[in-house]
Amino acid sequence: MQLDVVTLFPDWFDWFRSQRHVANALARGLDLRTHALRDHTPLSGGQVDDTPFGGGAGMVLRVDVMDAALRAIYGTDPTDLRHQRRVIALTPGGRMLDDGYVDELAAEPAVTLLCGRYEGFDERIVQHFASDTLSVGRYVLSGGELAAMVVADAVIRKLPGALGHAGSAVEESFSPALGGNPEYPHYTRPADFRGWRVPEILLSGHHEEIRTWRRARSQERGGTP
Ligand code: ADE
Repeated sequence: MQLDVVTLFPDWFDWFRSQRHVANALARGLDLRTHALRDHTPLSGGQVDDTPFGGGAGMVLRVDVMDAALRAIYGTDPTDLRHQRRVIALTPGGRMLDDGYVDELAAEPAVTLLCGRYEGFDERIVQHFASDTLSVGRYVLSGGELAAMVVADAVIRKLPGALGHAGSAVEESFSPALGGNPEYPHYTRPADFRGWRVPEILLSGHHEEIRTWRRARSQERGGTP
């Protein structure tokens, strides 16, 4: 999978890249690229944003700057790009990220994440260049970079080989295997700590009963008993 991030702060992703599971995915063929918006601006002084028409606080990322950046990166008119790959504008009002959306993205060969800053994007970027908008929650971050890392992390753990244990991404919270419910509780040693005992069933070795118990706890947590 090729995962591109267009950002004002490419350095932020150096730390992300160095994390074990990301490094594993990179070694197995994930192509994670960051592109500095400022490197491609046609405006003087590295300008990328401007004051909003109609007034108001904050600055807005300019459509001509995003056009120039996407043209330089992909060598194509950015209005065509969204027919070739998913181009996702990260914005608090976008489509909410959930496990199904992550699965959709993990199945894509190529995804581009556009990080907003300040007051966000000139709406024409969203209208003409993006295939999707995506929100990581109904709160406002100071930019799309952390949201991009959330998306990348959630997608990467679904890629083959990213996790040490292949089964760990299958039966996890919100997965179809658990009917979209949160995961069941986990316990490890010691089996008794300060009198807080691990449920006996988990120590029984009865795999079928353990499976049934786990499904029931997962359903309880999801409110669908
Ligand atoms: N940019 C700023 N806040 C965001 C959010 N909540 N989700 C996605 N992108 C954002």
